[in-house]
Amino acid sequence: MKKIDLNRWVSKLKRIEERVDRLALLARLSQLLNSTLDHKEIRRKAMEAATQLMKAEAGSLLLVDEDKQQLYFEVALGDKEETIKTITLNMGEGIAGWVAKDGDPLIVNAPEKDPRFFKGVDGRTEFKTRNIICVPVRVKEKVIGVLEAVNKQEEEAFDKEDLSIFASLADQVAIALDNARLYLELEDTFFETAESLAEAIEKRDPYTGGHTRRVTQYSLAIAKYLQLKPLERKCLRIASVLHDIGKIGIKDQILRKPERLSPEEYDEIKHHSHMGAEIIEHIRQLREIVPGVKYHHEQVDGRGYPNGLRGEEIPIIAKIVAVADTFDAMTTSRPYRKGMEKEVALGELKRCAGTQFDEGVVKAFIQAFENGEIE
Ligand SMILES: [Fe+2]
Repeated sequence: MKKIDLNRWVSKLKRIEERVDRLALLARLSQLLNSTLDHKEIRRKAMEAATQLMKAEAGSLLLVDEDKQQLYFEVALGDKEETIKTITLNMGEGIAGWVAKDGDPLIVNAPEKDPRFFKGVDGRTEFKTRNIICVPVRVKEKVIGVLEAVNKQEEEAFDKEDLSIFASLADQVAIALDNARLYLELEDTFFETAESLAEAIEKRDPYTGGHTRRVTQYSLAIAKYLQLKPLERKCLRIASVLHDIGKIGIKDQILRKPERLSPEEYDEIKHHSHMGAEIIEHIRQLREIVPGVKYHHEQVDGRGYPNGLRGEEIPIIAKIVAVADTFDAMTTSRPYRKGMEKEVALGELKRCAGTQFDEGVVKAFIQAFENGEIE
């Protein structure tokens, strides 16, 4: 009867167990990578995953700059990050450059003996590379970057199994990065469409050229001095672009009237804010900005329109657009009156802070103005 080598079986079992653990870790890291659409966040997570999964001392993600035909360190771990970020590699240069150009993964366990190894990184960071594993990050057959892990812990060398697991991670990184890119493109298209729409409406009114662009610029300048959440900032940008979209429903003879409006005509114009809200509330992605559009003519003392909201009842986005909008209206010339000097208009904002406008928003506007951000 054949004798069973127990030790051999135990070590084989141990290896299988380790492999299962690693695959479970890969699955967890992949899930993490695909849990966000933020490009920067994905890049950081990719590099952390590379370090953890490869049990390495450091990891980095290099992305390809198509125009320059170069690779640049997008993120690197550790205290040498800032130095590493300044280093770029030409395609074909160094291990990473070679992998990016060739498209094949690579393990180099004795880099100092490998002519492809680029000594510049070690030189500048006083980092000693013992071994390196490098895989391409591919989107639709195109190499968009390279994932790298350096110095396997416990003095070990990278092996074929590392390579296949690392390649799977690179596939997940590619998917996550591509999703984020598509999302960003979609978002840009969305902004551009909103801007074109606002411009088309603006073209109807010959006296307001550039109004939307300026209101958006002022609103974003104000926001820099206020504590806004990222989503609020995004909403503010679209709300300021679309704040007057309701003017599409205002008759030409009123909108294009070169003389001062009569009280009745002014009442008609006032409908534009709630009409704007009605137009955009049909678009699911725009629902968040409805209050910003609807209430951009409300006043903190309750004397605004359409609802006569007061103080805290008015959403912050609407309060910001109100200040930006009024400042531009005051400083722009109309056929029946000349626009105010910016300093005079600023005085008006200060005078009406706490009655017409939110005091904090006016304060933020003044800060932006003093720092030359209101052009
Ligand atoms: Fe308006």
